[in-house]
Amino acid sequence: MTNVAIVGLQWGDEGKGKIVDFLSDKFDAVVRFQGGHNAGHTIKVGDKTYKLSLLPSGIIRDKFSVIGSGVVVDPIALFNEIKKLEDQGLKISPERLAIADNACLILSIHQELDQLLEAEKGDNKIGTTGRGIGPAYEDRAGRRAVRICDLLDEKVLRERLTNLLFYHNLLRKSLGAELVTVEKIIAELAPIRDRLLSYARPSFEIYKKLSTCGNVMFEGAQGVLLDVTYGTFPFVTSSNTMAGQVALGSCMGVSDLHKTIGILKAYTTRVGSGPFPTELNDETGQFLRVEGNEVGTVTGRDRRCGWFDAVLVRQAIKISSVKEIALTKLDVLDKLEKIKICVSYKINGETYDYLPQANHLWSNIEPVYEEMEGWQEVTVGTKSVDDLPEKARKYIARIEELCGVKSAIISTGPKREETIILKDLT
Ligand code: GDP
Ligand code: IMO
Ligand code: MG
Repeated sequence: MTNVAIVGLQWGDEGKGKIVDFLSDKFDAVVRFQGGHNAGHTIKVGDKTYKLSLLPSGIIRDKFSVIGSGVVVDPIALFNEIKKLEDQGLKISPERLAIADNACLILSIHQELDQLLEAEKGDNKIGTTGRGIGPAYEDRAGRRAVRICDLLDEKVLRERLTNLLFYHNLLRKSLGAELVTVEKIIAELAPIRDRLLSYARPSFEIYKKLSTCGNVMFEGAQGVLLDVTYGTFPFVTSSNTMAGQVALGSCMGVSDLHKTIGILKAYTTRVGSGPFPTELNDETGQFLRVEGNEVGTVTGRDRRCGWFDAVLVRQAIKISSVKEIALTKLDVLDKLEKIKICVSYKINGETYDYLPQANHLWSNIEPVYEEMEGWQEVTVGTKSVDDLPEKARKYIARIEELCGVKSAIISTGPKREETIILKDLT
């Protein structure tokens, strides 16, 4: 049995969905272990495009899929997503999908609070997805959250909601928002309660099933640079996105994770606010946005684009214990004459091989670049590394050298078959 985690090594949208779908053929279960419907994972199979936010990408191949204890679950968003996938011909039954019953709920008050707080911050906003992710995780840490298992008993649910709304109404009052009653939330939950409970399983039951079902894949959402502890704080999401979180959010334990594969985009993108040392606010940035179709899956916002930043990625790889990577979207660079890689930063005259956490240094970062020759040949759909142009192979080798990892997979297009396999990962 080999259990593998797939984690993004940049600011999300590295192509995790494509790689999870590609690899899940050889796995028996796929588990989401953090985040919520802030994620947007795109999978292209033939002429069909699937967009997943909360459901594990293994569901496309009808694998046993788990939404683990570390995920925050908006049940209305979940059922909308299930409906869309069922309209596309998939069947998502409680035999195929299990949700840990200690996962915390995202309620309408969380989404409203997320949006109210972002609006209050004006220019200092994080640029969240507005899905209520931050407020839901805050309530979990504050021991106020409502968990799925709290829906089992009306008396418990009312107690939990009274406690939660006491806090939320204090905030809402100070923000000038309408106060919310327990009855309102009960009424919102009533139509979906039984259906949600039909998917809910005690986390130890999920553990027992996962530990006997064969190979398990843990599907990360977001990326290491959005990790609430190690990312570009405060411009991060509210969960830990690194492989270490597998042990806390998947229903399994530390030693159940055997290998972590990092997903790296051949250039850099980010959505929302925050530092981005290699950002290109010029025609090359626009070229990457258009060629890479860099528009957010969840919010439809344009993604900010820039050169590959080996400084950020090197650190992400080390702290995630990544030994192998899947390098995606190489084909997006096909037409460029010159390609740059950031190899270090100069900040106030000093050289850095990592991004310092002290925010006051961020405005003075000067990326130090190496320039490489572009290959200016079409690589879309290439299936063998020998068929890649030599200059493309040099670019990959330089990234591997700078980051201290080897590529196990190179992705040359959004579709399943547009993939080069260099190493068997099971
Ligand atoms: P995720 O959040 O990490 O799963 O990534 P997203 O799905 O949000 O964004 C990645 C986008 O790039 C999606 O539209 C994918 O279909 C697409 N994609 C994935 N791999 C490749 C690739 O190798 N080349 C190209 N051109 N597109 C890719
Ligand atoms: P996937 O899984 C890219 C970003 C938001 C914002 C910050 C905080 O598709 O890679 P949040 O709503 O989580 O409180 O927003 O995190 N963000 C993502 N950016 N890909 C994602 O997911 C993201 N999920 C959150 O844009 O900057
Ligand atoms: Mg995405």
